[in-house]
Amino acid sequence: MEKLKVAGGDFLKGTVNISGAKNSAVALIPATILAQSPVTIEGLPNISDVSILGDLLEEIGGKVSLENNEMYVDPSNMISMPLPNGKVKKLRASYYLMGAMLGRFKKAVIGLPGGCHLGPRPIDQHIKGFEALGAHVTNEQGAIYLRADELRGARIYLDVVSVGATINIMLAAVLAKGRTIIENAAKEPEIIDVATLLTSMGAKIKGAGTDVIRIDGVEQLHGCRHSIIPDRIEAGTYMIMGAAMGKEVMIDNVIPLHLESLIAKLREMGLHIETSNDQILIIGGQKEVKAVDIKTLVYPGFPTDLQQPFTSLLTKASGTSVVTDTIYSARFKHIDELRRMGATIKVEGRSAIVTGPTKLQGARVKASDLRAGAALVCAGLMADGVTEITGLEHIDRGYSQLEEKLTGLGATIWREKLSDKEIEQLQNS
Ligand code: EPU
Repeated sequence: MEKLKVAGGDFLKGTVNISGAKNSAVALIPATILAQSPVTIEGLPNISDVSILGDLLEEIGGKVSLENNEMYVDPSNMISMPLPNGKVKKLRASYYLMGAMLGRFKKAVIGLPGGCHLGPRPIDQHIKGFEALGAHVTNEQGAIYLRADELRGARIYLDVVSVGATINIMLAAVLAKGRTIIENAAKEPEIIDVATLLTSMGAKIKGAGTDVIRIDGVEQLHGCRHSIIPDRIEAGTYMIMGAAMGKEVMIDNVIPLHLESLIAKLREMGLHIETSNDQILIIGGQKEVKAVDIKTLVYPGFPTDLQQPFTSLLTKASGTSVVTDTIYSARFKHIDELRRMGATIKVEGRSAIVTGPTKLQGARVKASDLRAGAALVCAGLMADGVTEITGLEHIDRGYSQLEEKLTGLGATIWREKLSDKEIEQLQNS
């Protein structure tokens, strides 16, 4: 086990290249199950979720290779092997195996997903969609059993706007008989990316990226080559770090449109931001930045995945900021750790109230989930002294080459092995 150490105070300058989107990758890889011939996905991020999903595809009989961030999947000999335990429990997105395997084999057994603990994360809308398409779904000892004689298109209204349910229903519906209509669908760019892959495979999908998606089922899907979209959350994380400590930070390989809510908030704080086709430049170094309120919302609102790193940035703003997470009620596990570093923040219900400016101090902190980890790295960059972050397995699930990218911008950040004593302390905490 390792810990990450950040020596704070260095100004960031230079260009950071953004990897492929994690939340697309984790859906695109299971989607390959639906094809009858090989699919290649290029530009994947170098993160543990990608390699675990590759392993899972091999477990069900796929031929998989992953080289230079390009995954080749030959799904022709896959079988509907039950996956009740093991690696499926390591990531939440393994729920996409349900939609994809149900679509191709009309049956699947998938262990209930793991992932970050952000409060309740039900999958009732996914199940509602599968049932509407004709599947019989049961939960037996922590695994979901899905079976259908045949899948038939249906009209499905999502009671909650859900990225996962929207994609999962698309996966199950592309090979169903007839037309499926998903109403109140999520509109995140990752949904469009998955629809683009499925369309290249021969699926008929209209309206992805709007709140009504229409899918006309086809008999079979074929292989293709797909290039993934850039990770807007990774890009947003570096933008926030650039806003916190940057002189001039250029974010390269990004779609600025995907980050309009963040750009607007950073400008409101007083930062200077320039955008072009696929780059965003953040000019920091302002003497004072203003406090702002944020409320996380479904896309195109402010993303919940950036709420945590943004909270770290707000500790340096003058005044009181209110951060409200309307998507996940308990996504505040980073707050105690930021307080340990000297931040003045209190949590009231779904909101965190940040009073600044505060000069953070390096401390020993623990990442409880992926974006809490990003928040702590951001805080570490801003703090006086050295910050030690444990819980790296969370950060490695979502950030490709974090230390290399930050070192390239001038930060002082490195990994060290945990001592036996530290491992024992962590296990007891
Ligand atoms: N919800 C339900 N029932 C469902 C599904 C969702 O009540 O059947 C609720 C959730 O509890 C939540 C809200 O609906 O309150 C939105 O959840 P959604 O289904 O959209 O989230 P998700 O698909 O499970 C994805 C990302 C998350 C990101 C959310 C919101 C993936 C693999 N994960 O999760 O990313 O926070 O959308 O944008 O795509 C992350 O990257 O750190 C991360 C957690």
